[in-house]
Amino acid sequence: MFLKEFESIVNSRRANRKFAEDIPVPDEVIETGLKHAMLAPNSSNMQLWEFHWIKDAALLNAMTPICLNQTAARTAKHLVAFVTRRDYWKEHAQWNYDLVKKEIGDKEPSKKEKRGLEYYGVMMPLVYRRDWLGIAALIRRIVCFIKGFKNPFMRINGNRDQNIIVHKSCALAAQTFMLSMSAQGFDTCPMEGFDPLRAKKALNLPKAAEITMIVAVGKGTTEGIQGERKRLPFEKTVVVHGTH
Ligand SMILES: Cc1cc2nc3c(=O)[nH]c(=O)nc-3n(C[C@H](O)[C@H](O)[C@H](O)COP(=O)(O)O)c2cc1C
Repeated sequence: MFLKEFESIVNSRRANRKFAEDIPVPDEVIETGLKHAMLAPNSSNMQLWEFHWIKDAALLNAMTPICLNQTAARTAKHLVAFVTRRDYWKEHAQWNYDLVKKEIGDKEPSKKEKRGLEYYGVMMPLVYRRDWLGIAALIRRIVCFIKGFKNPFMRINGNRDQNIIVHKSCALAAQTFMLSMSAQGFDTCPMEGFDPLRAKKALNLPKAAEITMIVAVGKGTTEGIQGERKRLPFEKTVVVHGTH
């Protein structure tokens, strides 16, 4: 139905490394993009992310060396840091739990609603709890081993797996944001080329937060595009299992 529009958005999204100095990006454009990013799919609807919108000139200037003096950062009109917040798990599990509770109200909970309460009340603590001694991770390993012994089970073991979960969702939010910028006639450059320690300090982020990527936004220039889009062949990228 919207294939043509979708294709033109996907094709116009390029990593643009130099933005026009004299063309501003209205705040409403970024706000709309951030609202679209909030609608990205995310693990268990836990929304363990935070989008840090940097529009203050002084902070933008301070971020340039942190982003390794990349031209995209230096010429950006706005920067948005997509940040994982696994430390919000308790609060967000409770928020989801309360939504199910509210849906139940005074009536007897349905099977689906009971499953919802168990999911946010029992499963999410099992997935996201972390402690100094590693006891939560050990319990998680044991549960995964026992449950997965005979039947398929989602194996979330150590702390690394928790980090991967939150980064996956956060990257999808970043991509949704970039596509939204393209749809609104602006350009972006996603960056992992930055100093994470200094960036976290500049944004007042706690230890548990991690920056998935920083997206530079502006009106792109032709110099900002590094030639034709290059991709490996379809056959090298797509592995087809079976036939129809
Ligand atoms: C997670 C991630 C990190 C990236 N980091 C940088 C970066 O630090 N600097 C940069 O110039 N481009 C960066 N890029 C952009 C890629 O180089 C670019 O997307 C790729 O070459 C494909 O080009 P296209 O986006 O124009 O299709 C990054 C892209 C992603 C997805």
